[in-house]
Amino acid sequence: MLTSNEIRTKFLEFFKQRGHAVVPSSALVPEGDISVLFTTAGMQQFKPYYTNPGDAEKDFGGKNTVSVQKCVRTGDIDEVGDATHLTFFEMLGNFSFGGYGRKEAITYAHDFIKKELGLEISYVTFYKGEGVVPRDEESEKIWKELGVADIREDGKDVFWGPTGDSGPCGPTTEIYCKNATGQDVEIWNIVFNEYFAGSSREKLDKGEATLKKLDTLGIDTGMGLERLLATVQKKESVFDTDLFTEIFGKIDEFTQSKNDRARRILADHVRTAVFMISDGVVPGNGGRGYVLRRILRRAIRFADVLSIKHVALFHLANTVIEKYQDIYSLIRANKRMVLDEIEKEESKFRQTLEHGMKEFEKGTDPFILATTYGFPIELTVELAEEKGIKIDIDDFNTKMAEHQKLSQTASAGMFKGGLANHEPKTIKLHTAHHLLLAALQEVLGKEVKQRGSNITEERLRIDFAFDRKMTDEEKKRVEDIVNEKIREDLTVVRREMPRDEALKLGAEMEFGAKYPETVSVYFIEDKNGNAISKEFCGGPHVEHTGELGAFKLQKEEASSQGVRRIKAVLL
Ligand code: ALA
Repeated sequence: MLTSNEIRTKFLEFFKQRGHAVVPSSALVPEGDISVLFTTAGMQQFKPYYTNPGDAEKDFGGKNTVSVQKCVRTGDIDEVGDATHLTFFEMLGNFSFGGYGRKEAITYAHDFIKKELGLEISYVTFYKGEGVVPRDEESEKIWKELGVADIREDGKDVFWGPTGDSGPCGPTTEIYCKNATGQDVEIWNIVFNEYFAGSSREKLDKGEATLKKLDTLGIDTGMGLERLLATVQKKESVFDTDLFTEIFGKIDEFTQSKNDRARRILADHVRTAVFMISDGVVPGNGGRGYVLRRILRRAIRFADVLSIKHVALFHLANTVIEKYQDIYSLIRANKRMVLDEIEKEESKFRQTLEHGMKEFEKGTDPFILATTYGFPIELTVELAEEKGIKIDIDDFNTKMAEHQKLSQTASAGMFKGGLANHEPKTIKLHTAHHLLLAALQEVLGKEVKQRGSNITEERLRIDFAFDRKMTDEEKKRVEDIVNEKIREDLTVVRREMPRDEALKLGAEMEFGAKYPETVSVYFIEDKNGNAISKEFCGGPHVEHTGELGAFKLQKEEASSQGVRRIKAVLL
């Protein structure tokens, strides 16, 4: 029986022998793509290559790649506990940016499934066509030639992508195999990236987006390791594979309960949390941090359901780390941090869980449960559902908005936004940072978005999404624009306004951050009140740009794939 380690190796080796560069998994926090919270597919790190296939040669020494990618999908979190759903999984995938087309992609998949793994293909699907996308007769024909008997046409389900706000997408062909209980499960999705959608999948489905044909056909395939493993190992669920043996063994040390759903949720969520934290996410109240917090708190709640009363997540996390540290070196490197964060969150939430549960039983308002007991609203909803009670979400949202407005006002003078201290030099660099972002957008395009920032007394640093090196000319122009705005002695004004209004004004916001109903926005304006910069920001800033002195770019370099980093100083 093949183990998870053997399957990963076999997969990478199979494609390596067929001219694919083996590329390590990228982080769970996507680099360079600000429109998605977590990496959900193997293609995420390769997104730019479908539109610029020439770059693949440069970066990978060839047109084809293969990877085992860490992925998180939380859309189906409520389904976790059944036989197939997980919030974290590994995706095996092969990719091509102009190296090959349908024939090779389908034949590779067929050979890997049948000859390498010895599985029977139950049936395959192909796209029946809609709008500008024609019926995929070529795939149908290739499968016929390979001797697959059951070939089914399908609609929207076999058109994949794009991820996030825009990206490559196209028709797919899927391979189904029978699992241990005789059900057909989708094993492998082979996407033919022939189009580019300028908007999200949601808009595409509503007919509000147009598809542009890509010059080069790209291949993007994805096969969930856990599901494949369950099929290969003839197990009834993904939780019965070798990937979960040790973690359930550990759970058994803490509880006798055989509540399968609770055990599975606990195992899944701890595994996801370990991977998220080792990739740099920390529990928090907004964006990714909130997804993680929600997952951890839910894990703690289900530990409670299993009558595991003491701090157990720490030990379970350690077991997960031991299982994966030889495969993902970051897990080993960040072990301490992962365990610390989990321990902190668990002790914090444990203290209030018991008390909060009593309050819940008494029928305490969900708003109080959230603000006083740290119960994410989903948790309250889930508890209520178990009791057949309905929660008034609108009422909760209204109270929450009011609450956030008050705490925003209370912290109006508070220092936020990546600044190291309150020194006048730091404050000046902070204002220069705003001018720089505006100048970058003027020179490189409005789509340049901030990905990170860090300001010390000595220098400012900005990370922004942009897919190539800046030319010397562009750097010079950016520098000149900032200096011009300093000379013009523009006024810096802070205004509080409803979040929606700020969004409508197009104020820059930090990606992934959650903002309260009422926000603070900094405007940098000329004498006529025309704003050259508007940013969601807590400040503080100088009052006039003339105070800044001379602005100088020091360095422009790659920070990560699709993200550039600039360091600059004020002289
Ligand atoms: N990107 C495709 C998927 O995630 C392969 O299913």
